[in-house]
Amino acid sequence: MYLTFSLLLISFLDFISSAPVVTSGYAPVPAVCPSTPLVRTATGISSSESAYLASRLPIASAALGKWLQKVNPSFSTSNLPVVALTTSGGGLRSLLTGAGVVQAFDSRDTDLGTSGLYQGLTYQAGLSGGGWFLSSLAGNNYPTISSLEANLWTPAFADSFLVPANLAAAPAVYEQVVVDILAKQAAGYSPTIVDPYGRLLSYQLLYGPDGGVTDQLASITGLSNFTSHNVPFPIITALNVETSTGVCLPPNNTVIYEFSPYEFGSFDSGVNAFTQTQYLGSILSNGAPVIPGHCETNFDNLGFILGTSSDVFNALCTAFPADATGILANFSALINETHALTFMDEFAIYPNPFYNYPHSSLVSSQKNLTLVDGGESNQNNPLFPLLQPSRNINVILVNDNSADTSANFPDGSELYQTYMQAQLAGLTKMPTVPPTSVFLANGYNIRPTFFGCNDNTKITIVYLPNHNYTFPSGESTEKVQYSPSETQGMIKNGQQVATYGMNGSFAECLACAVVKKTGDTLPSGCQACFTTFCYD
Ligand SMILES: *[C@@H]1O[C@H](CO)[C@@H](O)[C@H](O)[C@H]1NC(C)=O
Ligand SMILES: *[C@@H]1O[C@H](CO)[C@@H](O)[C@H](O)[C@H]1NC(C)=O
Ligand SMILES: *[C@@H]1O[C@H](CO)[C@@H](O)[C@H](O)[C@H]1NC(C)=O
Ligand SMILES: *[C@@H]1O[C@H](CO)[C@@H](O)[C@H](O)[C@H]1NC(C)=O
Ligand SMILES: *[C@@H]1O[C@H](CO)[C@@H](O)[C@H](O)[C@H]1NC(C)=O
Ligand SMILES: *[C@@H]1O[C@H](CO)[C@@H](O)[C@H](O)[C@H]1NC(C)=O
Ligand SMILES: *[C@@H]1O[C@H](CO)[C@@H](O)[C@H](O)[C@H]1NC(C)=O
Repeated sequence: MYLTFSLLLISFLDFISSAPVVTSGYAPVPAVCPSTPLVRTATGISSSESAYLASRLPIASAALGKWLQKVNPSFSTSNLPVVALTTSGGGLRSLLTGAGVVQAFDSRDTDLGTSGLYQGLTYQAGLSGGGWFLSSLAGNNYPTISSLEANLWTPAFADSFLVPANLAAAPAVYEQVVVDILAKQAAGYSPTIVDPYGRLLSYQLLYGPDGGVTDQLASITGLSNFTSHNVPFPIITALNVETSTGVCLPPNNTVIYEFSPYEFGSFDSGVNAFTQTQYLGSILSNGAPVIPGHCETNFDNLGFILGTSSDVFNALCTAFPADATGILANFSALINETHALTFMDEFAIYPNPFYNYPHSSLVSSQKNLTLVDGGESNQNNPLFPLLQPSRNINVILVNDNSADTSANFPDGSELYQTYMQAQLAGLTKMPTVPPTSVFLANGYNIRPTFFGCNDNTKITIVYLPNHNYTFPSGESTEKVQYSPSETQGMIKNGQQVATYGMNGSFAECLACAVVKKTGDTLPSGCQACFTTFCYD
């Protein structure tokens, strides 16, 4: 018996020393299911999010009060609002502009009138390029923008692996991505373009070997700034396309899905349910594992999620082009390592956690969700999750870096679309927003504007549109490579977006907007601010 055992051991050791060493932290991993329900109806926020907020709110309020007092000691701090920030889609243009905005609000990183407001936020949401930004911030435990710029973004954006020549010059990266997608396939999940796309994006956004491959969305809950409730609660959005009906693009009234470190799902009618982020990838039916007790973890790779939120490849809207060029050719070659390409390879495929779940009537017959970029329903600001009554948000700072115009600047149409769709969806806290013609006529598209100033039943929206104050910031969404001076110029211009071009009186006007509806007596200067910046 001992002899048999030793022989077995020897042949086993032989085997592992001769087999090629193929390891990947990318593949989903089987796990025992949790004792808590995997799926719940969307009656309110989760108990985990409630617990986070209970700890976050006092910290955020103390910081918000401190900022208000710095701006003007006559601000009252007795009755403080819940404040959120969003960063829109728009590729690296939006990431860099959004980073400059956060830098101007972050007291760790700048000493401006606006610095300190970031510390007072309770929620932060991003989609697409804004989701890249939020993932880079949250996935790396919330360093300062200066530190991300110097140590990660500047070199990575100058040498982006989304440029075929740069990828060709990094064969080890390419080979590792092949290993990653083969590992996902071996775990039973068919990779699509979004897998290599997310992997290559991650090399620019996350620290750690193989583009931060060990970072999951759910693992953010274990990072020190999250466990100490030092940071706003992060949310990333995406959309589902009902591919069975033959369409490629989501309609304007499509369901908006949200990813947080705790949950994935939607409050919107038709889905009205959430699942646990950590167990995404599990095969469920009516909220229970199809194989009893069998779940999956590690499907929620942060790179895959930030790739999902920015998946624009469905716009190809056809069988995958055989004559693809540029980075698309690299993606097809990478996917072709696992299977022949089909139309479905243009989507991010998630086993549908709401399969056979009766509350999710719109999607309960779909085995997979086929997710795409969060901005494809003409709402490029991730607002729906923040309009939910159960989140009790009072003020949202909306940094809109959309490319609505031919010069790649926003024109208000994305915010207007959200206003129209919020009315249809019964999200009554959305303030009135006028159509683009009014934005253009009044310059709301090029300077900060406050919406909902005078209606206490609405959230106040502080609109902060990308504008070229000091740098030509209307860069194309497709631009994936930025020189060091472009990266720096874009971030610095983002600071201008947040400060109305470093206008000395803007910080106080921002503070007036933030506390306008608290019922407290406002400093006398606020009236002039409202005259200048309020829409209605
Ligand atoms: C990426 O695709 C280009 C063609 O567009 C090709 O020349 C290059 O070799 C590919 N890169 C890698 C790493 O395969
Ligand atoms: C769901 O996606 C998987 C790939 O992850 C695929 O193998 C399967 O065929 C899909 N199911 C349906 C019904 O489309
Ligand atoms: C996160 O934690 C680090 C280390 O404790 C700290 O230096 C940093 O300021 C924190 N970030 C935020 C946003 O509080
Ligand atoms: C969807 O919204 C866009 C942008 O506002 C608009 O041009 C389009 O007509 C809308 N589509 C439908 C079907 O209403
Ligand atoms: C995928 O691989 C097959 C077989 O190796 C080949 O015939 C086909 O041209 C490849 N397609 C692409 C898009 O690379
Ligand atoms: C901003 O862009 C406009 C045209 O879109 C141009 O006329 C103006 O000079 C630019 N300003 C700066 C500071 O780049
Ligand atoms: C700051 O903005 C206000 C309101 O638009 C304006 O009246 C004032 O001239 C600006 N100050 C400077 C220094 O540009």
